[in-house]
Amino acid sequence: MALPQGGLLGIYPGTFDPVTNGHLDVIQRSARIVSRLIVAVLRNGEKAPLFSAEERVEMLREAVREFPTVEVDSFDGLLVGYAQRKGARVLIRGIRAISDYEYELQMALMNRRLAPEIETVFMMAGEAYSFISSRLVKEVIGLGGAISGLVPPVVEARLRDRFLIHEPSTPGKK
Ligand code: PNS
Repeated sequence: MALPQGGLLGIYPGTFDPVTNGHLDVIQRSARIVSRLIVAVLRNGEKAPLFSAEERVEMLREAVREFPTVEVDSFDGLLVGYAQRKGARVLIRGIRAISDYEYELQMALMNRRLAPEIETVFMMAGEAYSFISSRLVKEVIGLGGAISGLVPPVVEARLRDRFLIHEPSTPGKK
């Protein structure tokens, strides 16, 4: 198959409230497959996010600074509309466990119906990250638990600020 001019552009969409090391693992592995990857933050989803879209984009930009072919953007409205405007042919989604599959399949099939020329590609989460979710990270830090190693340092610092935690937490320490 001939590559589109300028190589293959992929979009990795999500809420990223906030980005975790699981997302970063998917970003790093996807960046090896596509020529250019846009990490696209949904601005106004149904969920009420902890961080504003600007904050989520800022944290992501800091976290992907080392990846030269990865950029961060935000979008509103239909994902496939955004992908079409960007000229992307591939949507990337991470799957952690079978419980993610049903929702992901439904979205992938709806997106295919809306835009048959765009393919969804699923990346299996790295074993070390398959239990991490943005929701659980927020719950754990909100209850005083340790989250180091689960999120990039910039996110840990912002979460500590948000939850007014000044002591660095250590795994295993109460
Ligand atoms: O990280 P999330 O919350 O699982 O990401 C979900 C996301 C942003 C990929 C999905 O909600 C989405 O694409 N929203 C944009 C609106 C849209 O296109 N809806 C129809 C999808 S089938």
